[in-house]
Amino acid sequence: MGYNVAIDGPAGAGKSTVAKLVAKEKGYVYVDTGALYRALAVYFLDRGIKAGETEKIIGACENVEVSIRYEDGAQQVYLNGRNVTPRLRTEEVGNMASKSSSIPEVRAKLLELQRNLAREQDVVMDGRDIGTCVLPEADVKVYLTASVETRAKRRFDELSEKGVSCSFDEIAKDIAERDQRDMTRETAPLKQAEDAHLVDSSDMTIDEVVSAIAGLCR
Ligand code: DC
Repeated sequence: MGYNVAIDGPAGAGKSTVAKLVAKEKGYVYVDTGALYRALAVYFLDRGIKAGETEKIIGACENVEVSIRYEDGAQQVYLNGRNVTPRLRTEEVGNMASKSSSIPEVRAKLLELQRNLAREQDVVMDGRDIGTCVLPEADVKVYLTASVETRAKRRFDELSEKGVSCSFDEIAKDIAERDQRDMTRETAPLKQAEDAHLVDSSDMTIDEVVSAIAGLCR
């Protein structure tokens, strides 16, 4: 069994940034599980399936294989043998992933892959249900959060920096809706595991968050 660090929390809390840095500092492999849900979302969208079409989504799960590889240290996600990593980070894909991930068959599709990755190597895995469902025996569990305002401000700054015009209020509304969906779904909802350390990054720098989490690891 590898040494397992689970970092869960809502969208925009800084999980991937922090998890990547903790993994680098500790020499563990970073596993971005949101990317796996996003890859399945790409598959559904490419087939013209809409978020509400649950039966079609369940049917599509039967013909798809998701796998990951590491190229130059970066996680690459493959869908039926094709690298779809460049397509994962759009709002359309994020929204489809948020909706389709509430379907139990979609979650079941990715469970073994995640567990195998953690069995074979030392990992920092980030997601929504890693400490509660995927790796309940993880060595370190962290619930990383920040206020909706802080998360919306970070996203707003990130998009503005890229020259994308956007509205702060719309981003905040989108984040609040996604929280609501992720926290209230029946299967594997986003919640803090009983034995998880709560880290609120609202008033912390990235370095402070990284050293707080690295300090919990062996
Ligand atoms: O972390 P992210 O934004 O890339 O995740 C995209 C969606 O995938 C998110 O809205 C909820 C879902 N997800 C999940 O249900 N469980 C995980 N472990 C990771 C992501």
